[in-house]
Amino acid sequence: MSTTYLGHIFHVAGAPTVADAREHLVSLPDGALVVSDTGTIEWIGAAADLPSTFAGASVVDNRGGYIVPGFVDAHVHFPQTYSTDSYGGGQLLEWLDNCIFPAESRLADPEFAERIARDFTRRRVAAGTTAAMVFGSAFPHAQDALFRTTRDAGLRVVSGRGIQTVGPESASALITGEAEALALVRDEIERWHAVDTGDAATARIQVAIVPRFSLSVTRETLRALGELYDEVRGAGVYFHSHLSENDSAEGGEIAAVKAVYETESYLDTYDGRFLAGSQMGGSSLLGRRSIFAHAVHCTDDELARLAATGSSIAHCPTSQQFLGSGTMPWKRTTASDVTVALGSDVGAGDEWLISRVLNDAFKAHISEPDDASVSLHPAELLFTGTLAGARALDMEERFGNLDVGKDADFLLIDPERWEPLAMLLAGRVRSDDEQTDTDRELFALLMGLREPAISGVYVQGTRAVAPQ
Ligand code: GUN
Ligand code: ZN
Repeated sequence: MSTTYLGHIFHVAGAPTVADAREHLVSLPDGALVVSDTGTIEWIGAAADLPSTFAGASVVDNRGGYIVPGFVDAHVHFPQTYSTDSYGGGQLLEWLDNCIFPAESRLADPEFAERIARDFTRRRVAAGTTAAMVFGSAFPHAQDALFRTTRDAGLRVVSGRGIQTVGPESASALITGEAEALALVRDEIERWHAVDTGDAATARIQVAIVPRFSLSVTRETLRALGELYDEVRGAGVYFHSHLSENDSAEGGEIAAVKAVYETESYLDTYDGRFLAGSQMGGSSLLGRRSIFAHAVHCTDDELARLAATGSSIAHCPTSQQFLGSGTMPWKRTTASDVTVALGSDVGAGDEWLISRVLNDAFKAHISEPDDASVSLHPAELLFTGTLAGARALDMEERFGNLDVGKDADFLLIDPERWEPLAMLLAGRVRSDDEQTDTDRELFALLMGLREPAISGVYVQGTRAVAPQ
């Protein structure tokens, strides 16, 4: 039997780019969403227009509250669940060395790995992150715990073990030889990729090839990963890494990558077609299922290549602020037509809730200098935290908005469960223009939302359950 959910529905319908998101914003104050017993959206519209065919459906009454698509986090580090308070005494490379490599090494202990997988998944359910690209642990038993816990909770995940074949002493527990790294990736793909449905178009559990960043591997390792990707991309395996994140002076990430790889383009290091004079061969790690975190300091040529290959960017403004990485130029980046999704980047980011990361995006981009400054529209924010994430994951056909035929991945929000939100919404200034009021209501909802107000998290029509 179908179920009808009643409430104020907001979503960005169709398949627009961010530039067209506001024209695609749907607001149904007395909305109804009908979900089939197999978890597909059968109907959406004003409750008053509900066809009589659905009269027998059971009803979940969330009137007074909201229904929105599930949030998509396009970049979050599972082994950094307890690292959001880490003081590294410097920017990216110091923070990795002083805080993160030691923190991630703790997952060598299987009991600790189980605990952190449970807590990570609990945070996801609390924050309504129905789908995520999860940067994984170096340890296979920790990845097993992550995939198992996520599957039991009923969430979607793409993840892969973090690959490191070189690095400082503090990362020694995370580093393997190249042959072992490749064998472990193959094993992870075999055991977990699309295990739930056997089909990468529908699976909730999928695997990515995840070198930490160019500095944590060698040319030879990247070449071998490129060849492996050629082999497995047909099966829908993903690629995920960091790109052009931190430009701190001499000795910073970007300067170090350019020096080690003898290139002016960070992106070249992931693209054997371009890295001049390399032993990388012709394999590329770019493509429709490739997501690069950050891309704060890309050139126009790099952005054009990302767009042309269908690769996506996970924009992580909270983390960029924390590590002093700078601000991804919003207008220039989105103008290149590359898909820009949103990432919490926990633990450099300290917000699990995607709407809080959107709040940081809003502040970061209105503060860009002069002509680059932009006041992101609430529809653009909602798009970036939902549909853009589904597109980056190459799963837009299945989720990201509430169009009929998609899987029912959505959140119920009850403002009464978080008084400051209820107060904000009730106290809004009204205008005499309906669209202005709608935009302001969505903005207040996104900016004022906190975890306690999320009263239901659904993936494919089934309520997600946080592990105990
Ligand atoms: N670059 C390489 N590793 C990391 C990481 O763990 N976090 C961030 N923000 N950047 C990285
Ligand atoms: Zn990251």
